[in-house]
Amino acid sequence: MEPRTTPEIGGLGHSVKRKEDPRFIRGQGTYVDDVVLPDMLYLDIVRSPFAHATIKSIDASKALAIPGVAAVITGKDLAQYNLHWMPTLMSDTQMVLPVDKVMYQAQEVAAVLATSRYIAADGIDAVEVDYDPLPVVVDPKKALLPDAPVLRTDKEGKKDNHIWHWEWGDRTATDKTFQEAEVTVKEDIYIPRIHVSSIETCGCVAHFNKVTGKLTVWMTTQAPHAIRTVFALVAGHVGLAEHKIQIISPDIGGGFGGKVPVYPGYVIAVAASVLTGKPVKWIEDRMENLQADSFARDYHMTAELAGKKDGTVTGLRIKTIADHGYTDAAANPSKFPAGLFHICTGSYDLKAAHVEVDGAYTNKPPGGIAYRCSFRVTEAVHAIERITDVMAHEIGMDPAEFRLKNFIKPEQFPYKSALGWEYDSGNYAGALKLAMQKVGYDDLRKEQAEKRAKGELMGIGISSFTEIVGAGPSKHFDILGLKMFDSAEIRVHPTGKVIARFGTKSQGQGHETTYAQIIAEELGIPVADIVVEEGDTDTAPYGLGTYASRSTPVAGAACAIAARKIRDKAKKIAAHLLEAHEDDLDWEPGKFFVKGSPDRAKTIQEISLAAYTNHPPGMEAGLEAVDYYDPPNLTYPFGSYICVVDIDKGTGEVKIRRFVAVDDCGNIINPMIVEGQIHGGLTMGLAPAMYEEIQYDESGNNLNGSFMNYLVPTAVETPRWETDKTCTPSPHHPLGAKGVGESATVGAPAAIVNAVVDALWHLGVRHIDIPITPAKVWKLLREKGVSE
Ligand code: CDP
Repeated sequence: MEPRTTPEIGGLGHSVKRKEDPRFIRGQGTYVDDVVLPDMLYLDIVRSPFAHATIKSIDASKALAIPGVAAVITGKDLAQYNLHWMPTLMSDTQMVLPVDKVMYQAQEVAAVLATSRYIAADGIDAVEVDYDPLPVVVDPKKALLPDAPVLRTDKEGKKDNHIWHWEWGDRTATDKTFQEAEVTVKEDIYIPRIHVSSIETCGCVAHFNKVTGKLTVWMTTQAPHAIRTVFALVAGHVGLAEHKIQIISPDIGGGFGGKVPVYPGYVIAVAASVLTGKPVKWIEDRMENLQADSFARDYHMTAELAGKKDGTVTGLRIKTIADHGYTDAAANPSKFPAGLFHICTGSYDLKAAHVEVDGAYTNKPPGGIAYRCSFRVTEAVHAIERITDVMAHEIGMDPAEFRLKNFIKPEQFPYKSALGWEYDSGNYAGALKLAMQKVGYDDLRKEQAEKRAKGELMGIGISSFTEIVGAGPSKHFDILGLKMFDSAEIRVHPTGKVIARFGTKSQGQGHETTYAQIIAEELGIPVADIVVEEGDTDTAPYGLGTYASRSTPVAGAACAIAARKIRDKAKKIAAHLLEAHEDDLDWEPGKFFVKGSPDRAKTIQEISLAAYTNHPPGMEAGLEAVDYYDPPNLTYPFGSYICVVDIDKGTGEVKIRRFVAVDDCGNIINPMIVEGQIHGGLTMGLAPAMYEEIQYDESGNNLNGSFMNYLVPTAVETPRWETDKTCTPSPHHPLGAKGVGESATVGAPAAIVNAVVDALWHLGVRHIDIPITPAKVWKLLREKGVSE
């Protein structure tokens, strides 16, 4: 799309430099740990060495004897106020601090308050806890066996570790496609537990003012308003009413879904501040962060595809066990305990599909957060893109040709999927063909054949994913009953400058720039004249926050509509100033003019001044608007990724030679920011595909609890991403835009696995679970007798 505005105005389509970057690159950002208040206390947390154990006693006397230790808080202290348990966002319950037993290694056991962070750390070492270990359940499949020890003994009458069963689709019709199929394929596919590993860990500063009764919490949250409401609902009985709670999300160093839930540390800090009347700071260290919160995935899937020998797919069946750890603390919309997993029909015209998911409790920290993902979409994409590839290989058809044969065609949109979603728009063949052309697909296939003849291992993998972002239409989407709209409030000052506030909260995505660009597009006011604020519940309009790539589809739409409301009023003022009828006015970015007389014009700045100095009689003064946008549908961005790998037969190392990513997120607000989102997203897709996995031993000990053994890829491991785009606007979004933040993280892993399996299929390898480590590949090569 060609920009309609000049670079000075900087509307849609301009790669405006990020307005937030000067403060970040000069060290002037304000993160939670930068907040320092007079008389502040510091909180540190005693954590359990056991994955499952009874707490026999907690002796705080030695800790309390340390000069500077102000208090030690235990579950029993919180129990006096009924604050030792809290609800999760999925209406399960989670301990704030335990009273009688711990459920995972690194669980919070007690908290120490001290006059410095260092004294608090000394204090936790001095707290003596006597544990009695209990049997540990690590494997979710074993957790669901009848003889497994029941973990949630706090739940009266609970006789197993099953959380919920959820299914979707037409089972009978799907089974019929399998009975009638000429070909069926089936694979067990595991997406391991991974961690978001944001640069900034979680933390907060809680300040309860005993005089005013107001609680202010600076916290690393992606959803400040929802958190405020949850705090008010949970702690209303101790006097914390919603109008006396202010949540401030300052600058955030990466959220990726990990900063949506409420973690016990936040609640303990609030309780500690209410009890002491002093500000309390809690900042996790890196190992606490990596061991105790922000876990994603952990889906054990069995995917089956039915089809014909000519390559037509007919039915899809997926069964999944979801390991949620000891509580279901995912942040899914209430109606969808398995998130939007039922987007698993992907980009294909499947006539029947059925999915089942069972949640299981284990002795692990709560998992299931939507890591750069719209609630289980990564899992869904991985399943369909893997099983599609298996089918193509099984029938001996080129995986690109197989996909092109089965894609939903452009003319089929809006398309109702077998699992009930209405895809808004798409051109899947367009994206795949562009990726094939860019990578030189036909030549690569020839090269692969030549190399294979010489015994060399080269693979080409495709992932043609469809995403579902922008949660969501309020008829289907809520979190704890709060409908998932979002909001924008725009105020134009007399001199034509703007402040705009939003219910979302950027954690690095560049909202201060892109929202300003939307206003610039709609009102013709230069981006430089617009300030964007998010994250303060005292000032921002109510919104559900930023995760699952929902900001552009929802708050971005609210922004455009609020700006249009302002433009409508501006038109009336312009008509008054020009002494013309409204219908006789035309708009071009930045001014209204009389049709046919471009010289008879009023700029938006002149109109702004008039809104406060010379507005028409009977009209309210001022120029501002608010919009709460309830999207009519989700948006369905998509893309086709092609990965080319070479495998070293001596070491099992997989080298990514090329990675071409063609994305389509409809109309783009800022091309540079979108490209940045895709680069970052691809690296976050590479990470689980090749490096990251949180593992536990049989006793529930976390084996990857530091960056020494949890391998986050750096620039050294990251290949050169080659990006391109197609543009298929969303028909229902006011700007034709779709979300993009998570696309690459969702789409990339399958392309990498597909490439590795493509290199090894002729040896009899059908599937490899991620992460594809050199050790895993080398073992396979050895088994197949081709290792060197
Ligand atoms: O909710 P979140 O901000 O994580 O995701 P998003 O809505 O996909 O947006 C990520 C960033 O890309 C934001 O700065 C968006 O404004 C920008 N974007 C864009 O410029 N054009 C699009 N079509 C989609 C997103």
